[in-house]
Amino acid sequence: MRRAIYPGSFDPVTFGHLDIIKRSSKLFDEIIVGVLNNSQKNALFSIDERVNMIKKLTCEYPNVRVDSFEGLLIDYAKQVDASIIIRGLRAVTDFEYELQIAQTNHVQYQNIETVFLTTSLNYSYLSSTIVREFASHGGDISRFVPAEIVPLIEAKYQVK
Ligand code: PNS
Repeated sequence: MRRAIYPGSFDPVTFGHLDIIKRSSKLFDEIIVGVLNNSQKNALFSIDERVNMIKKLTCEYPNVRVDSFEGLLIDYAKQVDASIIIRGLRAVTDFEYELQIAQTNHVQYQNIETVFLTTSLNYSYLSSTIVREFASHGGDISRFVPAEIVPLIEAKYQVK
């Protein structure tokens, strides 16, 4: 049984993330989308909001489940008995940071391997930060995130 974690902040989830989830669901037996609950970061969406959004958007994939975690990713991997971490690589600028994290995680826990999927060309520019930046200025985010969550993101900036 190959159980993989796809970890991230997903604040908010984008088409790029969803593309990685879809593609990894074909590669591994089970994917756990692990949403980081980072109390030190002032997130746009609460942890429950992020988990529920991703659950709705991935309900068509029977081998994908969505969960949240706190603390170290390797501790969470041990807890859920996952042997693979999935990360998306958009460009060479992602590589240095991702390599460092992957190597650190492997040094600390030899049973974990990080597998990188290259982001689809359509989404190689895309990040949650860009979505938040656009939305905060009233920009059109419909090419970045699914239609169902556009109003949820816009609503966050209307009340702020
Ligand atoms: O979507 P992000 O913010 O790029 O995801 C980063 C994430 C959640 C994968 C990374 O920050 C993480 O694993 N955080 C948990 C703490 C940890 O284990 N850090 C790595 C060791 S330095």
